[in-house]
Order: sequence, then C-alpha cells, then structure tokens
Amino acid sequence: MGTSIMKSSVISVIMLAAVLLPACSELQEEKVPTEATISVHGKGFADASSANFHAAYVRNANYDLTLCQSCHAKDYSGGTTGQSCNTCHSKPNGPENCTTCHGSVNAAPPNDLVGNSATTIRGVGAHQKHLLGGTLGAPVPCGTCHVVPATVTAAGHIDATANAEVRFDSTSALFAVGSSYDAAGTSCSNTYCHGNFQGGNGNKIVTWANADPAAVVACGTCHGDVTKATKKEKAYPVTGHTFALVTSDCSTCHADVINANLDIINPSKHINGRIN
Ligand code: HEC
Ligand code: HEC
Ligand code: HEC
Ligand code: HEC
Ligand code: HEC
Ligand code: HEC
Repeated sequence: MGTSIMKSSVISVIMLAAVLLPACSELQEEKVPTEATISVHGKGFADASSANFHAAYVRNANYDLTLCQSCHAKDYSGGTTGQSCNTCHSKPNGPENCTTCHGSVNAAPPNDLVGNSATTIRGVGAHQKHLLGGTLGAPVPCGTCHVVPATVTAAGHIDATANAEVRFDSTSALFAVGSSYDAAGTSCSNTYCHGNFQGGNGNKIVTWANADPAAVVACGTCHGDVTKATKKEKAYPVTGHTFALVTSDCSTCHADVINANLDIINPSKHINGRIN
C-alpha cells in the first residue's frame, strides 16, 4: 500500500511539473512578468509555517528520499532543478544527516519524528537522561536499546511499523537476564540497571515517558529501600551484606564509587555491570 501511495505521489509531482514547466516558458516568451510563487511543488514547500511544507510531505511518503533525488540529484546538490537541498540541510550528508528527521543535540529525540520535545511523550521519553549520563551513571549509547543503522536506507531502519524498534543489546552483560520493553505501556522490565542484579530490588518496572523521572532514580529504588530515612539506609542492599548497617562506612569498601557522604564520585563505575 505504501508503495502505491509513493508511486502516485511521484506521478502527481511529475504531472504537475509537466503542466507547469511549459506554462512558465510560454509566459516568459510572451514577456509577461513571471509569477514568483508558481512552482513544481506549490506555494510554501520551503516554508516551515506552511501546511504545504516539504517535511510533512516527506513524512507522509514514509521518508522515501529517492522521490526527491530523481530531480534534485542523488547528492541533493540540485540536479536539473538547480535547487540544492544542502543550502538549508548543511550538515554532513545533507537531508540524510542523522539529525534531520529526529534529534537535535544528538540523533536521539527530542525532537521526535513529529517535532515533539516533551519528555512525557513516548517518542521523546528518557532519551537524553540515558544518553548524556549524569550524576548516577555513565552515558548509555543508542546501541544498548536499538539496532543503529549505518545509513538512512539501512535495512530495518525506516520500515512499515509506525514506532521505533526497541531491543536490548544481548551481547552486553547488563542485559543477559531477560530484559524486555513493553511498547503498549512504554515500560521496561527486568533491566539490570534498574534493579535486576544480585542484591538489587529485582524486577522493577520503569516507565519511559515518565512524568516524574526523578522518582525513577531516587536512592533506594534500584537497590535498598527508598522509604528509609538516611541515604545509607536507602542504598543498603536488601540482601547480601551481613555486617551491621549502623557501623559500616560504605565508602571503605566502595571507595571507587562513593565518598563518605554516599555521593557518587565516579558515575562510570556505578551501574557499569560490576561491583567496585
Ligand atoms: C519532478 C521533479 C521534482 C521532484 C520529484 C522534486 N522536486 Fe523539489 N523542486 C523541483 C524544481 C524544478 C524546483 C525549483 C523551483 C520550483 O519549481 O519550486 C524545486 C524546488 C524545491 C524546493 C525549494 C523551493 C523553494 O521555494 O525554495 C524544495 C524545498 C524542494 N524542491 C523539495 C523537494 C522534496 C523534499 C522532494 C521530494 C519529496 C522534491 N523536492 C522532489 C523539482 C522537483
Ligand atoms: C529553504 C530551506 C530548505 C530546503 C531548500 C530544503 N529543506 Fe528540508 N527542511 C527544512 C526545514 C527548516 C526542515 C524542518 C527541520 C526541523 O523541523 O527541524 C526540513 C525538514 C526536512 C526533512 C525532515 C522531515 C521530518 O519529518 O522531520 C527532510 C527529510 C527534508 N527536509 C528533506 C529535504 C530534501 C530532500 C530537500 C531537497 C529536495 C530539502 N529538504 C530542501 C528546510 C529546507
Ligand atoms: C535506554 C534505551 C534507549 C536508548 C539508549 C536510546 N533509545 Fe531511542 N527509544 C527508546 C524507547 C523506549 C523509545 C520509544 C519506543 C516506542 O515508541 O515505544 C525510543 C524511540 C526512538 C525513536 C522514535 C521516536 C518517535 O518519534 O517515535 C527514535 C528515532 C530513536 N529512539 C532514536 C534513538 C537514537 C538515535 C539513539 C541514540 C543516539 C537512541 N534512540 C537511544 C529507548 C532508547
Ligand atoms: C529521512 C528521515 C530519517 C533520517 C535522515 C534518519 N532517520 Fe532514523 N528514523 C527515522 C524513522 C522514520 C524512524 C522510525 C523507525 C521505524 O520506522 O521503525 C527512525 C528510527 C531510528 C532509530 C530507532 C530504531 C529503529 O530503527 O526503529 C534509530 C536508532 C535511528 N533512527 C538512527 C538513525 C541514524 C543513526 C541516522 C543517520 C545514519 C538516522 N537515523 C537518520 C527517520 C530517519
Ligand atoms: C566490608 C565491605 C563492604 C561494606 C562496608 C559495604 N559493602 Fe557493599 N558490597 C561489598 C561486597 C563485597 C559486595 C559484592 C557482594 C557480592 O558479590 O555478593 C557489595 C555489593 C554492594 C552492592 C551491589 C548489590 C549487592 O548486594 O551485591 C551495593 C548496592 C552495595 N554493596 C552498597 C553498599 C552500601 C550502601 C553500603 C553502606 C551501607 C555498603 N555497600 C557497604 C562490600 C561492602
Ligand atoms: C538507576 C538505578 C540505581 C540507583 C538509583 C542507584 N543505584 Fe547504586 N547501583 C545500581 C546498580 C545496577 C549497581 C550494581 C553494581 C554496578 O553495576 O555498578 C549499584 C551498585 C551500587 C554500589 C556498589 C558499588 C558499585 O560497584 O557500584 C554502591 C555503593 C551504590 N550503588 C550506591 C548508590 C547510592 C548511594 C545511590 C543513591 C544516591 C544509588 N546507588 C542509586 C543501580 C542504582
């Protein structure tokens, strides 16, 4: 079905070109002033505020850029049209740059595919919390949760399904133990990072597009008991440690990760798949 829509779009663009281009040259021959708004694509195709803006057109054609390359050249430099895409899409690879259709600071949302930036929206969610890293842990790269395409046209990238495919990297020790993503509820179960490890809080289900992201990573949520009063009590693993909680200075044994105040001093060694 997608293919027939694309085909008919190409045909209609070409038909429009066939109708309009001779009309323009006729006008010029007769020395009647040309109408600046007459174009192959109709008014507003290059104007982001127009309903006819090309971004929406490309999206509706399931991002098939070969539709554009036929006239604007394979490298988008203009071809027979003389209108380069790369003057506006000036990043490497022009329109095929990884941030053209999603992302901005990096290729991950925000923005999502339709321009949303709120983290409560499914396509945006907790992307940047994971990718940029923070006080708790090291950055989590794309490949942990998706197959990363080498190019726009790579198999499995833009496909018939509406949403992105999430799959946890089975080659990573962190996900060896049955982590899963439930697209219907946008929730992750059984992930190592959020509690599924020896001494952790087990199968903790966390929601991706969460309205209160801070609650998901409060001290004691992944290991220990979040309801306790002090940081030390909160972080103390539910099983495993046999010594008395009150007398232990956590940092004597975990000095690479925390200080005496239980501040994480080295995020790259916390949530890294090993006890430091
Ligand atoms: C049939 C040939 C043809 C195809 C296919 C085509 N274009 Fe064009 N495009 C043109 C021509 C010719 C122009 C130059 C002037 C005009 O007519 O707008 C142009 C101009 C443009 C402009 C600049 C308009 C302006 O006012 O600055 C944009 C943006 C554009 N095209 C985007 C696209 C996109 C995106 C696609 C693919 C979905 C596409 N074009 C496919 C022929 C084509
Ligand atoms: C006049 C400047 C301009 C020209 C010329 C132009 N674009 Fe764009 N294009 C934009 C802007 C602005 C956006 C929206 C970017 C955003 O929302 O961040 C956009 C968005 C897109 C998107 C993303 C669609 C989506 O759903 O997010 C694609 C793909 C694209 N353009 C392809 C092309 C191609 C192919 C050409 C040449 C045939 C072209 N553009 C020419 C300015 C331009
Ligand atoms: C911690 C896991 C995780 C990481 C890391 C991650 N993503 Fe995602 N991504 C998701 C989830 C979950 C969704 C939402 C899937 C859904 O629609 O149900 C998603 C959705 C998307 C979407 C679809 C957006 C939309 O509008 O629907 C894109 C595009 C995307 N991710 C790209 C990336 C890129 C590029 C990177 C790396 C720069 C990245 N992601 C890193 C988990 C992740
Ligand atoms: C022409 C628009 C466009 C460009 C350019 C683009 N993407 Fe995407 N990307 C999409 C769409 C649409 C999806 C939603 C996936 C689907 O259909 O399953 C997506 C999804 C993704 C996902 C989520 C996993 C998946 O495939 O579902 C990742 C990761 C991703 N893109 C990375 C990249 C990288 C890396 C680049 C640069 C090489 C890139 N994208 C360039 C449109 C684009
Ligand atoms: C006497 C040394 C020692 C002290 C003190 C100590 N730990 Fe540990 N901790 C360990 C060892 C050893 C492991 C690895 C346990 C295993 O592999 O079974 C560990 C593991 C952990 C883990 C990973 C989960 C687990 O149970 O394996 C967490 C979380 C943790 N400690 C937090 C704390 C906190 C919080 C404190 C202070 C209340 C603390 N530790 C004090 C030695 C210590
Ligand atoms: C998002 C989940 C998560 C949160 C929130 C979290 N931890 Fe952890 N923590 C882990 C995981 C997973 C481990 C298991 C060891 C590893 O992979 O580093 C761990 C292990 C530890 C360890 C053992 C040393 C080591 O190797 O990492 C200490 C100490 C620790 N955490 C302290 C804390 C403190 C203090 C807080 C609150 C400020 C906290 N953690 C909040 C996931 C979390």
